[in-house]
Amino acid sequence: MAVTRPIRSDHRTTSPALKIRAATNQDLAAIFEIERLAFTHPWSLDSFVRELSLPFSLTLVATLDRPGEPALAGYLCRWLVADECHILNVAVHPERRRQGIAERLMAAAIAEAIAKKATIVTLEVRRTNLAARGLYRKFGFEERRLRRNYYGPGEDAIVMELKL
Ligand SMILES: CC(C)(COP(=O)(O)OP(=O)(O)OC[C@H]1O[C@@H](n2cnc3c(N)ncnc32)[C@H](O)[C@@H]1OP(=O)(O)O)[C@@H](O)C(=O)NCCC(=O)NCCS
Repeated sequence: MAVTRPIRSDHRTTSPALKIRAATNQDLAAIFEIERLAFTHPWSLDSFVRELSLPFSLTLVATLDRPGEPALAGYLCRWLVADECHILNVAVHPERRRQGIAERLMAAAIAEAIAKKATIVTLEVRRTNLAARGLYRKFGFEERRLRRNYYGPGEDAIVMELKL
């Protein structure tokens, strides 16, 4: 993956044991396990299978090479359509949170979007998801508008955008 410019650096995100790469079918079980742990209404396994087959979709995984720990620590799924990178999903294993793994995944996705000449990165986030909103704000995402009841009654989404 081409990285055209550093997005940001952080002491927690430089572990040489952490690698970011494109997901393969062999990662699906571990991705789905994290998805089930991360969300009340998780994507189905079939959804991830489908994403791997779509030409405009990319699923990145963060892997750790440390003995005795789950190898797959998190993932991010994005679409790249015309000049827009849309982040559909990002999650980190509960035992691996607050170690900068989501930041590494986001940095890789944004760097790849820049390399592919995207001009904007968009996403939706639950209004109540303060952890994710904080993550996105760190990258300069701006909260643009509210989609009321997007995730169900009383569960609003905030549309966030990062101009590249
Ligand atoms: C949101 C999530 C992906 C963050 O993953 P992570 O690897 O723990 O995040 P990082 O360690 O890279 O943290 C990066 C920044 O995100 C924010 N953040 C992450 N977790 C946070 C928390 N629990 N509370 C507040 N801010 C948080 C902070 O700004 C943090 O920077 P800081 O540590 O310097 O304060 C993870 O909590 C998760 O998988 N949640 C469930 C799935 C989910 O909500 N996905 C997002 C859907 S839109």
